[in-house]
Amino acid sequence: MSGYILITLSENFYDQTASTPETPFDVALRPPDFSEFTGQERVKERLMLMVEAAKQRGDTLDHVLLCGPPGLGKTTLAHIVASAIGSKLHTTSGPQIERAGDLAGILTNLQERDVLFIDEIHRLHPSIEEYLYPAMEDFRLDIIIDQGPKARTIRIDLPPFTLVGATTRAGMLTSPMRSRFGIPNRLDYYTAEDLQKILLRSARLLNVDIDAAGAFEVAKRSRGTPRVANHLLRWVRDYAQVRAQNVVTEVVGAAALTMLEIDDDGLDEMDKRILDALINKFGGGPVGLGSIAVAVHEDASTLEDVHEPYLVMKGYLKRTPRGRVAMPSAYIKLGLTPPVSAQSELFS
Ligand SMILES: Nc1ncnc2c1ncn2[C@@H]1O[C@H](COP(=O)(O)OP(=O)(O)OP(=O)(O)O)[C@@H](O)[C@H]1O
Ligand SMILES: [Mg+2]
Repeated sequence: MSGYILITLSENFYDQTASTPETPFDVALRPPDFSEFTGQERVKERLMLMVEAAKQRGDTLDHVLLCGPPGLGKTTLAHIVASAIGSKLHTTSGPQIERAGDLAGILTNLQERDVLFIDEIHRLHPSIEEYLYPAMEDFRLDIIIDQGPKARTIRIDLPPFTLVGATTRAGMLTSPMRSRFGIPNRLDYYTAEDLQKILLRSARLLNVDIDAAGAFEVAKRSRGTPRVANHLLRWVRDYAQVRAQNVVTEVVGAAALTMLEIDDDGLDEMDKRILDALINKFGGGPVGLGSIAVAVHEDASTLEDVHEPYLVMKGYLKRTPRGRVAMPSAYIKLGLTPPVSAQSELFS
């Protein structure tokens, strides 16, 4: 047989698992349109404007990049954008596209103006990225067929489509990739007020009896993250059912979450273990993330994606070129007196 065709589908091509597996519960609580999507006002306004402009011109929506820690609404926004322009959403993720053939299979399946959502786009293989660039810029795909002297390229024209890329690590995106999107849309942690609104909406959908103060109490302890808020709501509902006649008030919310070892700052057991290791095992740092990961028995990328950004945002931890450093508030959180060296970190 002379020709070996590079277009082959990898084994996990149809495995749709993304970064954080979605539960039916996640899907049920997902806001279906912009009007029900609370918070992230700047990003939301920008996306709504882009959608409206594209619709007025009868044009394809420009590619969109969504960045931010897990559970802040990237996948949700991809669904909302697709439905706002009245297009079909196709979902895949960086690690799922192992071969050029996988990408070709996905792209040639698109209809005009469809939205292709690539989750964890920073994990795309560099050789796949190369194929994606012309697809994004000129809606064409150049595929190499055969090997050696018989190798030749065939060009496939694609229908104009919109790529929505999501990443928890904007810093790991290659610059050619970043430059092919417009302005990145960075999602920030939510305020307690926004999370309170999200919780009240979820409680309505789940038939949970919660008052405004109860929702605020859960909101404060949800690490600025809607996914966490919705998960805590389920726990609080169970707690209220068994211990508080099914009603979630401020006191009930606080008691339920204290039982989970989540404090009023939203720090959970792992966050505290990280601060404890940093201070008690590594003298407050600077120390590499890998060493902390070993000390707390957690995967380094989970620490980097989930725990660290929240600890940095809350001012407990600082990232320096030499490693992670505990800030004075981390010592105070653990009931210790911050050493003078930690104070000086505040000004460095
Ligand atoms: N602004 C919002 N308003 C209401 N609910 C929200 C909002 N953002 C997210 N949610 C809820 O939080 C859940 C998690 O959001 P989503 O799956 O979109 O996060 P993500 O950023 O894609 O996370 P990951 O990086 O883990 O894939 C959703 O199922 C939805 O119910
Ligand atoms: Mg997602």
